[in-house]
Amino acid sequence: MKRIGVLTSGGDAPGMNAAVRAVVRTALMNGMSVVGIKRGYNGLLMRSLTSSDDYIEMNARSVSGIIHKGGTELMTARCLEFYKPEIQKQAVRNAKALGLEGIVCIGGNGTFKGAEALNSWGLNAVGVPATIDNDLCYTEFTIGFDTALNTAVEAVNRLRDTGDAHERASILTVMGRDCGDLAIHTALACGAEAAIVPEVPWSIIELGETVHKGVVSGKRSTILIFAEGAQASMKENVKDLRKEFPKLHINSDKLSSSQFAEIVEAVSGHETRATVLGYTQRGGSPTANDRILATRTGAYATELLLNDIGGRAVGIKGNKIIDVPLENAMDGTTFEPDFYELVGVTGYIRK
Ligand code: F6P
Repeated sequence: MKRIGVLTSGGDAPGMNAAVRAVVRTALMNGMSVVGIKRGYNGLLMRSLTSSDDYIEMNARSVSGIIHKGGTELMTARCLEFYKPEIQKQAVRNAKALGLEGIVCIGGNGTFKGAEALNSWGLNAVGVPATIDNDLCYTEFTIGFDTALNTAVEAVNRLRDTGDAHERASILTVMGRDCGDLAIHTALACGAEAAIVPEVPWSIIELGETVHKGVVSGKRSTILIFAEGAQASMKENVKDLRKEFPKLHINSDKLSSSQFAEIVEAVSGHETRATVLGYTQRGGSPTANDRILATRTGAYATELLLNDIGGRAVGIKGNKIIDVPLENAMDGTTFEPDFYELVGVTGYIRK
């Protein structure tokens, strides 16, 4: 191939810029030209008044000074319209009119679905995994996960200080709609007492009792890491909790982190506070690990296109860069029971 595109799509992840940089530099070094598509798949729909709002010709200087920056200079968006076949076909026609023979799509699950669609309509697409959720099972790590993990660890260090000072339990809610990886890794790295994740059924009453046991056994502070999607696997139903804790005013079926904390406090008899880390996990300068992963996977994806290979997702396994068919890249779960169980073992609470 002689001319390719590159885009970042879906939730941003620290290291996306480093991946774009690697794509551009590898392409130019190998005699290919590169077009940067803006705002994810929206740029390929070419609806802006000025074309430079949709795409730009990249040169070596376009990616100078961005390897250390969070966010994405190409910008990102979620493009729900892109699920429609006629929109996908239009995007392929637009890309071909720009002379593109292939494209590197940097993002998570949704991005890979878009890439698969482009590929099926005749534009060679390769996926580079970038999401703080680490929820793509074919790869051990996704770009952005390590940075988000370190952000969460730093937050827990601070929570430990205040929790120790007040002898409180702290709930920290981290991102991960359907995937508990970030919560489990944070819990392991911080010596938290528990990770509450969507993949494992759990009981809020038992959690409160566990906190109580920990306090009785002499724990000064307790750290509980919640994945944002954890309620999906909670054993109790909200109606019953409402009846059991009338003073807590549980009005909605979706419990907030503060309500989880109130219930834990009511059961354990121990002061409990909640913190939601939110979008701070998505920003920030990428860690060295994320920059290196982004550089390796971005360069590898570009080499695939250079060799006229599309329809692949690039990842890492045993520190080797690998590629798998795009259509298999979205299957399965990343949940690792060993990791999860280790939180329970090392966050030891005497029964
Ligand atoms: O996909 C990454 C993620 O960070 C999820 O953990 C989270 O639920 C979601 O993005 C929120 O994304 P947004 O609000 O930007 O659509």
